[in-house]
Amino acid sequence: MVAKRGAIVVTGGTGTLGRQVVRRLLEDEHEVRVLSRHPHPRADRTPREWAVGDLATGEGLDAALEGADVVVHCASAPAKDDRVTTGHLLEAARRGTRPHLVYISIVGVDRVPLRYYGRKLACERLVEESGLPWTTLRATQFHDLVAGLTTAQRLLPVVFTLGGEVRLQPVEVREVGERLAELAVGEPAGRVPDLGGPQIRTLRELTGLTVRARGWHRPVVPLRLPGKVIGAVRAGGLLTPEHADGRGTFEEFLAARGAMR
Ligand SMILES: NC(=O)c1ccc[n+]([C@@H]2O[C@H](COP(=O)([O-])OP(=O)(O)OC[C@H]3O[C@@H](n4cnc5c(N)ncnc54)[C@H](OP(=O)(O)O)[C@@H]3O)[C@@H](O)[C@H]2O)c1
Repeated sequence: MVAKRGAIVVTGGTGTLGRQVVRRLLEDEHEVRVLSRHPHPRADRTPREWAVGDLATGEGLDAALEGADVVVHCASAPAKDDRVTTGHLLEAARRGTRPHLVYISIVGVDRVPLRYYGRKLACERLVEESGLPWTTLRATQFHDLVAGLTTAQRLLPVVFTLGGEVRLQPVEVREVGERLAELAVGEPAGRVPDLGGPQIRTLRELTGLTVRARGWHRPVVPLRLPGKVIGAVRAGGLLTPEHADGRGTFEEFLAARGAMR
């Protein structure tokens, strides 16, 4: 680990992944500043610890990045255009201290033709071409997201899933957060090896496991959808079998947290 002089700013530090990055960095006693669109619920957070800003407009970013040595960019809003928000962040970083930019992307952004993925891939390029020192990690889907596909159907009489060979390799978000924290305090490394979960499972299996963990007694209905996106997923577009380095399994996640949702 490299000792850092300035703050480590975490965009999206209130989100599922960002919270894990912040937790890990604080455990290791680094100076951490969260960027959020909202004030901290407790009034005792100083501007060194919490900055209010909006990546969509660029408002507040110069102050948020003041004295930053590293920025871990976890913020994302799938309904908006991440190319715009990331562009604003990079501009502010270049105007300021030119920090090391650590970016989180997704395994398969270059293989699965989802609009959100296309934008993530474009953001990877923006980071690479920013002129800033950079590191990018691609991770597979978090357990939370996969379980959420099922729990979002809590009001339906049946549970839909995708049939056929729709395979995922979900990963424990805590481990992704720990890896990003490690990268944040290391030297800029460019594209680093992907981080995937320990097991490849069909979405149908994962749905069934979530249904059982919730104690639901409802039929699981597999749908077979045509299309390029599903085709790319069936072809293994979301998998990184050579980097099945995550340790926590989906069952362990469900036992610890999933059934409470
Ligand atoms: N979910 C997955 O399975 C997965 C897998 C691999 C990679 N990733 C990537 O990991 C990253 C984090 O995902 P997540 O699931 O943890 O996200 P999340 O829980 O939805 O959190 C999104 C974060 O973005 C921030 N944000 C949104 N719009 C913003 C804006 N205009 N200005 C400033 N902040 C803004 C939010 O902060 P405030 O609401 O506090 O402003 C929030 O903390 C994303 O880049 C995603 O692509 C996700």
